[in-house]
Amino acid sequence: MVDFSINGKDVHVDTPDDTPLLWVIRDVLGLTGTKFGCGIAQCGACTVHVDGQARRSCVTPISSVGGSAITTIEGLAATAGSGGDLHPLQKAWIEAQAPQCGYCQSGQLMQAAALLSENPTPSDEEITQGMAANLCRCMAYVRIRKAIKLAANAQNGGRG
Ligand code: FES
Ligand code: FES
Repeated sequence: MVDFSINGKDVHVDTPDDTPLLWVIRDVLGLTGTKFGCGIAQCGACTVHVDGQARRSCVTPISSVGGSAITTIEGLAATAGSGGDLHPLQKAWIEAQAPQCGYCQSGQLMQAAALLSENPTPSDEEITQGMAANLCRCMAYVRIRKAIKLAANAQNGGRG
C-alpha cells in the first residue's frame, strides 16, 4: 500500500510494490494523458513530475513514490498558479502548433516544464540538451523547441 498525492489530491493505492507508476496513473487512477511508449526509459512519453523532478513513470516502481507529490499532464496547468488557465507552455504549444500526432506531447510538455523550472532562460543548446531524451516519431522537434522559447520569453516578460 502506498500513499502519495497526484495533481494535489491525496491517493492511496494497493498494488504490488514493483508496479510501475505509469500503470497506476493510467489503469488505477484513470489519468490517461500520460502515455506508454517504450516501457524502458528510452522515449520520454511517460514523463511525469515526482516532487517537481521529471521522472520516467514506466520504470518508477510505485513503492518508491510513497509520500511524494506527483504531477501529470492533467495537473500541469494548476502548477502555474494561473487560476484554471493553461500553463504558459501549453499556450506556447498552441501558438507554435507543436504537435503532429500528439502521442509524445504530454511527455514533452512535462519535460519542458521541469527544464524551465530549473532554468527559466535556457539557451537553444540547453533546450536541445534538456529535451534530447524525449523522442518524437513525427519529428516535431523544431516546433517543440520554438514553443519552449516562446514560453520562456513569456514567463520572463520577453527577456528570455
Ligand atoms: S514509456 Fe517511459 S520512457 Fe518510454
Ligand atoms: S507528435 Fe507524434 S510522436 Fe511526437
